[in-house]
Amino acid sequence: MPNGYADIARADSGRDKSQLMVNFVLNGVRRACRAPADARLVEILRDEFGLTAARAACDIGRCGACMVLSGGRPVNSCLIMAWQLEGGEIVTAEGIDASLEGRVVKAALTAENAFQCGYCAPAFVVTLTALFQEDRVADEARIRRALEGNICRCTGYHSIIRGALRAGEMLAEQAGDNA
Ligand code: FES
Ligand code: FES
Repeated sequence: MPNGYADIARADSGRDKSQLMVNFVLNGVRRACRAPADARLVEILRDEFGLTAARAACDIGRCGACMVLSGGRPVNSCLIMAWQLEGGEIVTAEGIDASLEGRVVKAALTAENAFQCGYCAPAFVVTLTALFQEDRVADEARIRRALEGNICRCTGYHSIIRGALRAGEMLAEQAGDNA
């Protein structure tokens, strides 16, 4: 008997069992897999490709724990179905080091001891990477707006915001060095 939204969402009954062949770019590499048309991207990442940084937590687009980049924009991978994936370009936290912003965000969050249990950390890294790729000089208000879809249950957010501000400073320093 399903117990709550997440169980209902996970329940197999009524799922579309027709299989699709899906081709997309995952962390810079062309990949293909076979999946039910209504399989969620977070499930595909974890079950087909062993990429477990995106967490399947609420499963209804509320917590942000499953965040990935799709075409460079942060999206909840629990809300993307297999049939929507064809030809897409997905970057997960595992592939974030390919970008300067991703490396800097990780270093800055680490330097500020931003996380406690770390469960939410990959999703915050993904969201902040997208933010700084779009806006290298994002201020605190912009950072807080960007993070509205990411929930952390441990930290109270102060350390995460400090880490994000530090990432902005590090990126500004890099830009100065390269000028
Ligand atoms: S698991 Fe996707 S938003 Fe919570
Ligand atoms: S550090 Fe534990 S949920 Fe964010």
